[in-house]
Amino acid sequence: MPLDAEVVRKDFPILETQARGKRLVYLDSASTSQKPRQVIERIVAFYENENANVHRGVYELGERATAAYEGARSACGRFIGAGSHRSIVFTRGTTEAINLVRFAWARSRVHEGDEVLVTEMEHHSNLIPWQLLAHETGATLRHLPIDDAGKLRMDLLEEFITDRTKLVCVSLMSNVLGTINPIRALADAAHSAGALILVDGAQAAPHMRVDVNELDADFFAYSSHKMCGPTGAGVLYAREHLLEEMDPFHGGGEMIREVWPDRATWNEIPYKFEAGTPAVAQAVGMGAAVGYLEGIGIDAVRAHEQQITAYALGRLADAGAIVYGPSDVAERGGTVSFNLGAVHPHDMATIVDQEGVCIRAGHHCAQPLMRRLGVPATARASFYIYNTNEDVDVLMEALDKAKGWFG
Ligand SMILES: Cc1ncc(COP(=O)(O)O)c(C=O)c1O
Repeated sequence: MPLDAEVVRKDFPILETQARGKRLVYLDSASTSQKPRQVIERIVAFYENENANVHRGVYELGERATAAYEGARSACGRFIGAGSHRSIVFTRGTTEAINLVRFAWARSRVHEGDEVLVTEMEHHSNLIPWQLLAHETGATLRHLPIDDAGKLRMDLLEEFITDRTKLVCVSLMSNVLGTINPIRALADAAHSAGALILVDGAQAAPHMRVDVNELDADFFAYSSHKMCGPTGAGVLYAREHLLEEMDPFHGGGEMIREVWPDRATWNEIPYKFEAGTPAVAQAVGMGAAVGYLEGIGIDAVRAHEQQITAYALGRLADAGAIVYGPSDVAERGGTVSFNLGAVHPHDMATIVDQEGVCIRAGHHCAQPLMRRLGVPATARASFYIYNTNEDVDVLMEALDKAKGWFG
């Protein structure tokens, strides 16, 4: 069933509010998405009917809380095609999931002389942890370049993935260029070289069908708040045998099996990686977000975003904007970065805000990519299930005003 954005919009209370006295046009979902009533109500229902700590209480209420939490884990695994709940670790989000891999897998396995490969388009979340790892281990960090169309230079793969490579870290969808990367080909190359691949799915999971088995990903990270769920929740998927072999991440309650004054043994996976009281209500909300998106149909989400992105790319081209990233919507998601004449992106965002339009301006946590593009910043409009072509029209009218102001 195709997605009817006018119907979907009604699920989002915030879209009934105004900004600067005008209809709110929210075009910053790549940063964080808005939340539907179904998710908000699920969180309220948890606190009203099921709230207790998980995995501890022998009483019935504790069982209800645990069932809600573990149900969310199953939903989050199913959403990305994971075969078992044991491979799904709840984290605070993508950033924490990537840092978990840095601390619990990479620190004891990556050494001086080894290489970690990232790409020129990575978000700082999938770059800084690897810079820190390289600094502390003496490993070398390498960057797979992009071409002028904003796509990875796959022709250079043999040069960049070698028997020194231990880990390849790449986003499935760029938060700046919108580019959808050929993960399976990268995974095949990594595995042939004896390396593992970590996929940053923060931008992809909310917008397109993901199957970690088809991608052949060893690690896959994604965040709740970009896919209609609350902040403070996210997932690290990892192959079960990797989680079994990995060191713990945080130490504390829940992650242990037996404790002596000077040592301890670890709980079974995934609990070995969930020290302390987890963000239970947030995880339950993330599970509800999965259910909400599954109800719409993730293929319908993708089709809707391709339509609106094609429309936006056409309108921006007509306005003379420079758009970064692939022009073919089959190769990209609904995150559109652009520059317009001499108008600074921050001025653009400030002026369109006067019209009730929320867009992002800046380096989008991808400063090395900005240098590669030769710009200090871009404006970025990003679309989701509740956006319509009319939202694009309002943006374009507002941009016209910005252009007028700055000649
Ligand atoms: C591609 C990408 N990776 C990682 C992140 C970090 O996600 P979080 O802030 O939810 O940890 C983001 C957030 O914008 C992102 O766009």
